[in-house]
Amino acid sequence: MSAPEGSAALDGALPALACPVCLAPLARHGASLRCTAGHAFDVARQGYAALATGSTVPGDTAAMVADRVAFLAAGHYAAIHEAVAATVPAAAHRIADLACGPATYLARALDAAPEALGVGIDVSAAAARAAAKAHPRAAAATADLRRRVPLATASIDAALVVFGPRDGAELDRVLAPGGTATVVVPEEDHLAQLREPFGMLGLAPDKERRLVERMRPLAPQGSQVVRERRLLDPEDVARVVLMGPSGHHLEADRVRAEAAALGPLPVTVAVRVVVFGR
Ligand SMILES: C[S@@+](CC[C@H](N)C(=O)[O-])C[C@H]1O[C@@H](n2cnc3c(N)ncnc32)[C@H](O)[C@@H]1O
Ligand SMILES: [Zn+2]
Repeated sequence: MSAPEGSAALDGALPALACPVCLAPLARHGASLRCTAGHAFDVARQGYAALATGSTVPGDTAAMVADRVAFLAAGHYAAIHEAVAATVPAAAHRIADLACGPATYLARALDAAPEALGVGIDVSAAAARAAAKAHPRAAAATADLRRRVPLATASIDAALVVFGPRDGAELDRVLAPGGTATVVVPEEDHLAQLREPFGMLGLAPDKERRLVERMRPLAPQGSQVVRERRLLDPEDVARVVLMGPSGHHLEADRVRAEAAALGPLPVTVAVRVVVFGR
């Protein structure tokens, strides 16, 4: 039997991974990983490390991840991928994508940093399965990032957090000297045209001030807005609605029927890309 995709990349990423319980180093024992204190975790058949044991966070479902993969493959967020990759130094050795989903941002960043190894972490097993296949130099793990981030202290040159939960104290711990964390958050008009027709959740006001607070002790070093209008066909309208938080409570068939009835829609893509450092 051949080793699953992502398995070799997982061995390469091991020095950067840490036990999610006690942060001790992890070593490989066949199909499991064990820390020096004896906590043990499975390596899934699909090659990712299953470090989310005990988490009750639902994470994205397989259907949501499939919608995200298809939507992103259509290139509607290509400009965001470019902007994120441009924040990663070409000399980076280790890149972590936190709440990575299918890790397309990690894959793009690894293309821009030819020496780097990457690890994508998400609480969703479906996301980790996709992330393990995202790039030959990308490893993947499940973990609940509201708990400890299962990365070794000072191990990461560039961290990415795209539309995911972020915690400045943990990011500060895992960043190597000179390391940066690139955070992507939606602007107020992001996907605004879809909010009413599909009852998508609006944005909390004061987002930017709260982001800076959450990211302490890291501080913003630069920020850029990516804003463009994309014409989405009904399939992609339904995918972008269902791949986000609304996908947990909207009925997929109804969203698809409503999107088909509306026809192609011009939709605003608008996000802020902020680089944090020490
Ligand atoms: C909006 S998606 C973004 C995915 C990816 N960064 C992208 O932009 O394509 C949010 C992701 O965060 C993950 N997630 C939510 N809560 C999490 C947690 N506590 N720990 C780790 N991942 C989490 C979800 O499973 C989902 O894949
Ligand atoms: Zn441990």
